[in-house]
Amino acid sequence: MPHRRPFVGGNWKMNTDLAAAVELADDIVAGEQGLHQVCDIAVFPPFPYLQAVGRTLGHSGIRLGAQDVYHQPNGAFTGEVSADMLLDLNARVALIGHSERRHVIGEDDDLIARKAAAAVAAGLDIILCVGETWEQREIGATESINLAQLEAGLSGIEPGRMRQVTIAYEPVWAIGTGRTATPDDAEAVHALLRGKLAALYDDSTANSVRIQYGGSVKANNARDLFARPNIDGGLIGGASLKADEFLAIVRAAAGAAPG
Ligand code: PGA
Repeated sequence: MPHRRPFVGGNWKMNTDLAAAVELADDIVAGEQGLHQVCDIAVFPPFPYLQAVGRTLGHSGIRLGAQDVYHQPNGAFTGEVSADMLLDLNARVALIGHSERRHVIGEDDDLIARKAAAAVAAGLDIILCVGETWEQREIGATESINLAQLEAGLSGIEPGRMRQVTIAYEPVWAIGTGRTATPDDAEAVHALLRGKLAALYDDSTANSVRIQYGGSVKANNARDLFARPNIDGGLIGGASLKADEFLAIVRAAAGAAPG
């Protein structure tokens, strides 16, 4: 079985204030006890707090990430932030196509593909998020929706840049609802996505790309999810706002004792 280093991200969304963001980062650094040596860890604070959180993370080995990035390098794009601006702040990874950007803000596959291509070309790592709504699941469209979002999102990415890409499977109905996909249901979609990566690229690419699960992951359900062969960590929303809970999830991904 190929070894993929697990990867856990904390998506803080539009939460915290400056002081709380710095304190949360500080608590994660203080409590991680070397876990980043076996598990990639990243936090995604709101844009205005990136610099302060980046300073707090310092050389801890915990990565600084952005919740979004625009595809243009600069210019008259009021309110947007470019990949180079993020790299300037030492943010090295960005979320692309999170379900709230797709379904609340209204981003489509075309915009998401542009953002993904521009971000990796500029040197950022990305987490491309895909996932079906409850209505889509109910009508049996789970597979087709996830495959279509994956293929569209990766359409502008050169094969040689796939090492910068992580996928997050986040069923929309599980995000922030307390309703998690069962490990079996999640594993089925992860295996499907990995099969598609093999078809789009090759087996070695498919075996090396991490696929995170996201959607109401908590310390008490993380272990069962991460035990599945195609689930390589998680993208964590609500539970990433408490350092203890987040670190318990990281320990589960790292295969470490509950602590
Ligand atoms: P949640 O969010 O853990 O609060 O469900 C996950 C996400 O949106 O990435």
